[in-house]
Amino acid sequence: MSTAQIPDILSPEFAADPYPAYRVLRESAPLLWHEATQSWIVSRYADVERVFKDKAGQFTTDNYDWQLEPVHGKTILQLSGREHSVRRALVAPAFRGSDLQEKFLPVIESNSRALIDQFRATGSADIVSDYATRFPVNVIADMLGLDKADHARFHGWYTAVIAFLGNLSGDQEVTAAGERTRVEFAEYMIPIIRARRENPGDDLLSALCAAEVDGVRMSDEDIKAFCSLLLAAGGETTDKAIASIFANLLMNPEQLAAVREDRSLIERAFAETLRHTPPVHMIMRQSAVDVELSGGTVPAGATVTCLIGAANRDEDRYRNPDRFDLFRDDLTSTKAFSAAADHLAFALGRHFCVGALLAKAEVEIGVNQLLDAMPDLRLADGFDPVEQGVFTRGPQSLPVRFTPVAS
Ligand code: HEM
Repeated sequence: MSTAQIPDILSPEFAADPYPAYRVLRESAPLLWHEATQSWIVSRYADVERVFKDKAGQFTTDNYDWQLEPVHGKTILQLSGREHSVRRALVAPAFRGSDLQEKFLPVIESNSRALIDQFRATGSADIVSDYATRFPVNVIADMLGLDKADHARFHGWYTAVIAFLGNLSGDQEVTAAGERTRVEFAEYMIPIIRARRENPGDDLLSALCAAEVDGVRMSDEDIKAFCSLLLAAGGETTDKAIASIFANLLMNPEQLAAVREDRSLIERAFAETLRHTPPVHMIMRQSAVDVELSGGTVPAGATVTCLIGAANRDEDRYRNPDRFDLFRDDLTSTKAFSAAADHLAFALGRHFCVGALLAKAEVEIGVNQLLDAMPDLRLADGFDPVEQGVFTRGPQSLPVRFTPVAS
């Protein structure tokens, strides 16, 4: 097939269903120059894995200078070397181990329960709008000690940030909304950061204000940028992950029944969702030198678009890759939330998602509580989930019905 016949990643056809195009790209054009985004598209598992792991130091994350810095300010995603590891060491403890277990699990549980309480007696809900778009962002707001009453503004901000990040076609309105978000978020956050420095509490924001590694502290601007990244990276992604795990289970009732019966399977169902329907479908890098990949050479100084959604369905890596199968034996669920993961949804290497274990805790708690509240959970009659999004992707809505549990 000539490259002219490959559906363009900016076309409506691709947005409606990117998976056939991913297959064609992997098979016929594993390295494709894309004029509109001025980037090289990479789609095979082995190539995307190699770019992310970057063992030979051939790639940078300088793409975030234009993809995110205009809305967030400079964040950890752009840093490299020692600067990156020092900054990561400041923030990583909050997202794993005893901080996560002792401080934040109760926050996750109570936020999930509060949302379910709003619909548990009604017999119907939309898992996307009533739950998934609210739960992770409420958790982060609570972790940071921000006012959850501002939920609608947080949601508006992170949606604008992610739209800016994925603004592949350079839409002017998206750019303008991103720039407004930078100003509004700074106006909102900087006074809170100053107040928290004066009166620290037991929250993550206070911890970020006080944190010091090798004498390095974060400035107000750094902290604001990091909070903006947390809302976006932890909000939009986990929101899509929760919607997708439910869509996958509802479309595969025998697997839903197995998970309901044995809740330890949630981990596998989540790992398989990350492979099959990852929340983030694309991540970019810049090449520092000429690099050989399948299909040719990426010249130094180019932008590379790594198609996670395509790589995670590479037939050379996974058997029957388009099938959602939580029991598959070619995906290791125990490693799925560490940098040794064998799916690519959290990237790999230095920038491997620092929130992976938090996302896992949210999904496990959320799925458990929703299954308990909805013993005969099913999709609303005649409803077929429709995915939306090209850069990030997940079900647009998920109306469900259930018999309320007597309380
Ligand atoms: C299922 C949910 C999630 C997915 C699919 C996801 C995906 C990703 C991906 C693909 C990256 C790598 C970006 C790159 O290499 O350019 C990343 C990094 C990151 N994620 Fe997540 N993420 C999720 C949840 C979270 C949560 C809950 C948080 C925190 C609240 C978070 C915070 C971050 C941060 C701070 C980074 C940057 C790490 C670094 O540069 O060292 N993520 N995430």
